[in-house]
Amino acid sequence: MKTYQVDDRGYYGEYGGAYVPEILHGCVTDLQANYLKVLESASFKEEYDALLRDYVGRPSPLYLAKRLSAKYGARIYLKREDLNHTGAHKINNTVGQILLARSMGKKRIIAETGAGQHGVATATVCALMDMPCVVYMGKKDVERQHINVQRMQMLGATVVPVTSGNMTLKDATNEAIRNWCCHPSDTFYIIGSTVGPHPYPDMVARLQSVISEEIRKQLQEKEGRDYPDYLVACVGGGSNAAGSIYHYLDDERVRIVLAEAGGKGVCSGMSAATIQLGKKGILHGSRTLVMQSEDGQIEEPYSISAGLDYPGIGPLHANLYATQRAEILAVDDDEALNAAFELTRLEGIIPALESAHALGALSKMKFKPEDIVVLTVSGRGDKDMETYIDHCTQIPTRVS
Ligand SMILES: Cc1ncc(COP(=O)(O)O)c(C=O)c1O
Repeated sequence: MKTYQVDDRGYYGEYGGAYVPEILHGCVTDLQANYLKVLESASFKEEYDALLRDYVGRPSPLYLAKRLSAKYGARIYLKREDLNHTGAHKINNTVGQILLARSMGKKRIIAETGAGQHGVATATVCALMDMPCVVYMGKKDVERQHINVQRMQMLGATVVPVTSGNMTLKDATNEAIRNWCCHPSDTFYIIGSTVGPHPYPDMVARLQSVISEEIRKQLQEKEGRDYPDYLVACVGGGSNAAGSIYHYLDDERVRIVLAEAGGKGVCSGMSAATIQLGKKGILHGSRTLVMQSEDGQIEEPYSISAGLDYPGIGPLHANLYATQRAEILAVDDDEALNAAFELTRLEGIIPALESAHALGALSKMKFKPEDIVVLTVSGRGDKDMETYIDHCTQIPTRVS
């Protein structure tokens, strides 16, 4: 049977693998040898499930958005990852990885962050488990997501502003990998998305797969069938999307729609639409689609949304595109802003700018009235209030 899951060498079709410097070879192979043993052990499952329930607040609701549904002519459910502790899906992954780090005897945690949600989620679990935490964040993101910087600091993490490149997520990831190379034996690198060398993409997808596990049960209760016609999610590196589609990957009744950041337009030279603009290459340890020049230099991406401002994409998603299992839509800054205001006015929910890109995909899709659509609201918009307010004048104050 055709499967879209990772193979035992860490590849999704021709994408994936583990391309790391010699110094990290030992820790990556150690992780490859241990992650499934730990994740599938009874003691891990017991502690992870209890923390997701009592600490994160899972299951997250599946909410039938009636006014949004009426607008787009389908039954649109929102998977409310914005209601999780710390305000996004990222915490599902960090809870799992810190338990794994502890079981492997690691003493120090590092992470990269773009929007700051993964940084906050990492700082949170480090406070919980009493482990030192260093978060790398591009200087541009430190400025545009400064509330999350203060949250990380209050939680006890050290935030290191990165000033190389265009000072966003790619540069933060470079710096985190550099630090990991200097401390390979005692440090665990908690990667925040389905990117990085094998086993990270698979490990993060598994830790986020609770999203689709819950969607199945919740749809069965609400609709009498456990699958939707469409799943819609935004993609930066791909973790909220991977979690939303994980249990439906091989179910071809479910159409997968991924929204990437068009920025100022896919052909404008200011875009982060990696799947459409990218070519095969190696970035941050895996073979995937990468925005790059003719001679292989990484091109600087641009998006209004810090969490989607990345020139790569998870290898799982690159393969879903290559095999046409997923449809990819680019949603521009303006379209995402409009969609965020629309959700706010129709449903009283202020989404994260990243999630607003998934919402912006709705107007590019055609539905039948009986279609069941599940759209993942990956995070809440508190961190983006300044951007929303700055753009308020360009936005209609009421949705007609
Ligand atoms: C709320 C939110 N949604 C989505 C993303 C994009 O990441 P991913 O594609 O891994 O879900 C981020 C990244 O920071 C985020 O903060």
